[in-house]
Amino acid sequence: MNIINSVEEQEKLCNRLTDDNIKISLIPTMGNLHLGHESLLKASLNDDYRIVSLFVNPLQFNNYKDYENYPKTIKKDLKILKSYNIDCLFMPSKEDMILKTNHDIERKLPDFANILCGKFRKSHFQGVYSIVKKLFNIIKPQKAYFGKKDFQQLLLIKYLVKECFKNNIEIIECETIREKNGLAMSSRNNNLSIKQNRLAALVYNELVSLKKSLKNNNISLFPKLREEIIRKLSKQDIKIEYLDILCRNNLNTPTEKDIDVNIFVAFYIGDVRLIDNIEI
Ligand code: PAJ
Repeated sequence: MNIINSVEEQEKLCNRLTDDNIKISLIPTMGNLHLGHESLLKASLNDDYRIVSLFVNPLQFNNYKDYENYPKTIKKDLKILKSYNIDCLFMPSKEDMILKTNHDIERKLPDFANILCGKFRKSHFQGVYSIVKKLFNIIKPQKAYFGKKDFQQLLLIKYLVKECFKNNIEIIECETIREKNGLAMSSRNNNLSIKQNRLAALVYNELVSLKKSLKNNNISLFPKLREEIIRKLSKQDIKIEYLDILCRNNLNTPTEKDIDVNIFVAFYIGDVRLIDNIEI
């Protein structure tokens, strides 16, 4: 596996590959790889030339301490990437990615980036947008892989591809991978005790029963069920930040007629913030 730390060198390599008509696939990550990430690596197995980027992006953290404490497990990550025969790991420095360049940090994002996580994590999506745009410009992938676990991020990336890359990058959407108890895999799960992990899984159970209730009836029941769930979970010290039902393709508020909807949730267990979503 080729390991590249400089933006210039990565650009050179990708220009050469593009000139030789070799199709590049990109899997962007912040490292601390788990089975969720591995599902993206697996999905890309048959592609021509697979590049994984590993960069903990300071622009998308609201809190410097959270950024500094982001788990780093590079030795383990390298082993995983090699086991999936990844061709190249792009691991740039903060200087190269952030300090030496202009950023799209002031760009007006679509309205859907200001709700859900965008409402509670100011500037988070500006940070994601600008770093992924930069990665796409450096690497010029034909395909890029993203998880549905971060559904709002996935929609933003599709918007970026339409706005800035003439829809010329194919976005591959990968299903959410869960622990045995249903909790969506996340680097933040490492910060949960065993008891907290069990509590976090209760939220997924509630999403599943909500899905059943809404399928059998209709979404007009949602506001009432929502209040019941928030009350029930708060008794277990689970603090819901948001719990919403929205159209899957644009995050608009659904009407009775809309059938392509997801339920989105963000919640705190202690000071660990987790997100999840489920298709109805
Ligand atoms: P990170 O949290 O490392 O996630 C990298 C990719 O893995 C994202 O596309 C994410 O949706 C996917 N992923 C994470 N957990 C998953 C799970 N349980 N099941 C399926 N896919 C999962 O998301 C980021 O990094 C960053 O915002 C990034 C896009 C790299 C930009 O900095």
